[in-house]
Amino acid sequence: MELNEIQRASQEQFARQSDRYGRGHVLQNVDDVRTALKHIPLPARAKVLDIATGGGHTGILLASLGHDVTLSDLTQAMLDRASALAREQGFDVKTQQHSAEEFPFANESFDLVTCRVAAHHFSSPVNFVRESARMLQRGGALLVIDGTVEDDQPEAEAWSHRVEKLRDPSHNRFITPCHWRRMCESAGLRVTHSGLTPFKQPDLNWYFETAATTPENRAQVLELVRTAPGSARTLFRIGEEDGKIVWWWQRLTLVAVKP
Ligand SMILES: C[S@@+](CC[C@H](N)C(=O)[O-])C[C@H]1O[C@@H](n2cnc3c(N)ncnc32)[C@H](O)[C@@H]1O
Repeated sequence: MELNEIQRASQEQFARQSDRYGRGHVLQNVDDVRTALKHIPLPARAKVLDIATGGGHTGILLASLGHDVTLSDLTQAMLDRASALAREQGFDVKTQQHSAEEFPFANESFDLVTCRVAAHHFSSPVNFVRESARMLQRGGALLVIDGTVEDDQPEAEAWSHRVEKLRDPSHNRFITPCHWRRMCESAGLRVTHSGLTPFKQPDLNWYFETAATTPENRAQVLELVRTAPGSARTLFRIGEEDGKIVWWWQRLTLVAVKP
């Protein structure tokens, strides 16, 4: 698989940090996926593709609900850990290493494509949405959950982009809800649900550790937090609790159906 610069940065970052994304990671809490699934009618045994599966939490939840799940990721170490976690929990899942920009499956192979807290790393979200649309059977759904910033908040968006890029250089860009909608419509999908939920970043130091942020970049993030513009301070509710720096990301849940 030939990788571009953005994909290579992600693969290197997540290969290095793969042991951090299993048990004990905040992403292990999949209440957001359970809530999103209420908006998606699925057959009893749906064929599901979980893109950029990371620790596997989304795919494993779907396997626990009786679905036929393929976990996919750019990083083999993540896939190895995710499939081991699935096996430990008694679930049988398939795995496939590939990029989110190009899927190695035949047209209309899946009822559901999921992608949670990963699309902000992709070098081409447009290709990801197009490939998801190609992969879905008629009536099938794409579920995307990811960090975002409201469309009318360019200053707060620029702040969050700088923070995230310094914390984890494999971050590419958060995508606003309107932009997601446009990409889905251009790919022939109909958005049936789109909503924002605040999601707590409970401890900036834990968050640095998860991404192995360099000391220089940590110092720059702390300075950005100290000097955050009012728009970001208000939108992300930046604050301190028990000596820890906390804020609230905006998380988008979007469901788009192939008519
Ligand atoms: C934060 S983890 C995903 C979390 C996971 N989806 C969950 O629900 O817990 C991000 C994952 O995205 C993967 N990734 C980043 N860029 C990618 C790309 N272009 N194609 C496929 N996977 C990618 C990384 O290897 C990593 O495993």
